[in-house]
Formats: sequence, structure tokens, C-alpha cells
Amino acid sequence: MIENIYRPFKVIISEIKQLSENVRLFRLKLDREIDYLPAQFFMLGVWGAGEVPISVASTSGRDPYIEFGIRKVGKVTGALHELKAGEAVWMRGPFGNGFDLKTAHGRDIIFVAGGIGILPLRALINHILMERHFFGRLFLIYGSKRPSEMLFSDEIPLWKEAGIDVILTVDIKDGLWRGYTGVVTEHIDRIKTDFREACSYICGPEVMIENTVKELSLRGMPDHLINISLERRMKCGIGKCGQCYHGIEYICINGPVYTYEDIKKRLALYGA
Ligand SMILES: Cc1cc2nc3c(=O)[nH]c(=O)nc-3n(C[C@H](O)[C@H](O)[C@H](O)COP(=O)(O)OP(=O)(O)OC[C@H]3O[C@@H](n4cnc5c(N)ncnc54)[C@H](O)[C@@H]3O)c2cc1C
Ligand code: FES
Repeated sequence: MIENIYRPFKVIISEIKQLSENVRLFRLKLDREIDYLPAQFFMLGVWGAGEVPISVASTSGRDPYIEFGIRKVGKVTGALHELKAGEAVWMRGPFGNGFDLKTAHGRDIIFVAGGIGILPLRALINHILMERHFFGRLFLIYGSKRPSEMLFSDEIPLWKEAGIDVILTVDIKDGLWRGYTGVVTEHIDRIKTDFREACSYICGPEVMIENTVKELSLRGMPDHLINISLERRMKCGIGKCGQCYHGIEYICINGPVYTYEDIKKRLALYGA
């Protein structure tokens, strides 16, 4: 953790990879040691444009680099996309709680990603593959709108080789698509596991999260084993601006990861 959470530090971009039409993977060379967990986020800034929260897409401690996948949607992400290798990004963090892995020890794990929700899950999957012996069977259901929007098509074969049972699905297929079609929840029954014992990590659009939680719950997955990353809008990342306030708490401080059990408790207490 950096000493002063308000003060960004400068990091040089060593490589930029185009992952899809509007998503780029930025690989930054760290000049200091930073530990972080999958689903934690950093504030990334461009001088004169501002800063935005971006989940870490790499795995801590593997090498002196950190990676972020950034989709170009507006002012700051647009400015980040203008940058070239050798130029600087301003960064502060890590912020948020990140995924808890202890409850997953000894269990089968189902990762469910929608769209750019695969970015924090990529960090988690690679982390889990480094500690493979702690976990049971691994399954990934990853859905995108179109085949061209599917990220990490070069890494997915490596995940399959490492024993992950991967289900890829798109809303709209093209002539070359060989995977499934339909939303991620349509494919949950392809997973052969005891849902009452397995756990899950979910990241994607809110409607996808809601429906996935419902389906896993129906199959008997306990609430405390359903982990969700809620990437709501954030500005400061440190509980000061109120941008991520959810009626009861600041998601940048207590989240972005919640279990379904956490969410139900809050609903019962506050109706939030
Ligand atoms: C914890 C967290 C982690 C995130 N991780 C990633 C990541 O790994 N990769 C990534 O590409 N993005 C991520 N985001 C979303 C990213 O922060 C926003 O896309 C960014 O703040 C947009 O800023 P902008 O200045 O480019 O767009 P703006 O000019 O502010 O807005 C442009 C358009 O984007 C929409 N928009 C703005 N903020 C968000 C948001 N948070 N979510 C959805 N739509 C938004 C606006 O409604 C508008 O239509 C994350 C957000 C959070 C809160
Ligand atoms: S982002 Fe500012 S309070 Fe959470």
C-alpha cells in the first residue's frame, strides 16, 4: 500500500495490447512493490483529463508489472487510450476489499463473467492457477455480446490446458463462431458439480449478476459462497466524494466484493 492514498505516483507504460475494438490491455512497469488482490482496483489518471477506477487484471507478485484492461467509453478512458508505450500514467491504490479465496479452498469453483467483467476474473483465475492444489474443479462461463468482443482469446486455450472447463457464449454470433449462443445463465446446467458444495465468483453487468445469483441459489449454492464484484460508479475511491454511496455504505470502502449473504443482510436491515 502506498503511504499517502491521495498522492498518485507515476508509472511508465511498457506495452499496450489491443484486446478488442475498444478495449486495450495496459502493461505498466512498477518501480516499487505493491501487493493487491483480484477485484481490488486502482485509480488511473491522465494529467489534465482526470482519474478513473480500474480493476487490476494481473496477478500480484508474478513479475514487476501490473496490467489493466481499459474500455474506451468517455473522457478519461479516451485519454488513456491516446497514450503510447513509454508514456506515463498516474496511479493510486490498491483500493477495495478484493475477492476472498479462503472460503473457496477445497471447493469446485464457478467463474461467471459478462463483458469486461472478465478483466478482474482474469486476475482471479491466474491467481488460482498459481495455487491450483488448494482448489477443486474449475469452471468458467464467459459471455459477450459478439465474438469480436471476447477478450483474452489467446489466453483462454491456456486456461483450458490448465484444466478449466470453459464455456464461451455470445448474444449475436457470426459465421466463424464455434461456441454457444445465449446468456450465461442458459449454460449453468452444463456444469457438472454439486452446486451445494461449490462456490462462485461473478462479475459483469448488474442484470447478469442478478440472474446468475438467482440461478446458482436455486441450485442450492449457499449465499456465503456466491461472491459478486459490484463495480458501481466511483470517483475518489476512498469514501470522500459520495459518488458510490449505496444508501447504506460506500462501495469503494466496503466493496466492491460482496457475498450474496452480505447483500441479503443489508437488504434485511436497511431495505437498500
Ligand atoms: C471498481 C471499479 C472497477 C472498474 N474496472 C474497470 C476495468 O477494469 N476496465 C474498464 O474499462 N472499466 C472499469 N470500470 C469502469 C470505469 O471506471 C469507467 O468506464 C470510467 O470511470 C469512465 O470514465 P470516462 O471519463 O472515460 O467516461 P465519462 O466521460 O465519465 O462517461 C462516458 C460514458 O461512460 C459511462 N460510464 C461512466 N462511468 C461508468 C462506470 N463506472 N460504469 C459504466 N459506465 C460508466 C457514462 O454513463 C457515459 O455514458 C470500473 C469501475 C469501477 C467502479
Ligand atoms: S468513490 Fe468516492 S466515496 Fe466512494
